[in-house]
Amino acid sequence: AATECKIVISGSDMMQFDTKEISIDKNCEKYEITLKHAGKLPVNAMGHNIVFLETKNLQNIISKINMSHGIENGYLPETEEVLFKSKMIGGGEETKLILDTSVFVKGGDYTYICSFPGHFALMKGKLNI
Ligand code: CO
Repeated sequence: AATECKIVISGSDMMQFDTKEISIDKNCEKYEITLKHAGKLPVNAMGHNIVFLETKNLQNIISKINMSHGIENGYLPETEEVLFKSKMIGGGEETKLILDTSVFVKGGDYTYICSFPGHFALMKGKLNI
């Protein structure tokens, strides 16, 4: 089969991603994430984004999630520890995020989360590369 360098991930009003693990083929120089919000709740109540980070930085990044950073920034401050971050969307919306896979070390330990306050506990997955 041809290498697929893209995936569609959906978030729900139940605060869940439908995908708990992403595997990026080593032949993909770019990888396209389409994030959909399959629910109906508005972005300020049940916002979802997708944020990629090194797993070792997970607790540190989670500790920085704060409403004061604004929804347009995914409630996160500017930090190099955030490798990629999509727009935050509400019910019925979708957004795309292109990953430059050269940022990842092959075999490294990476995690993705939704950075809406409190969502990381349920909205978390593993990236394999
Ligand atoms: Co969310």
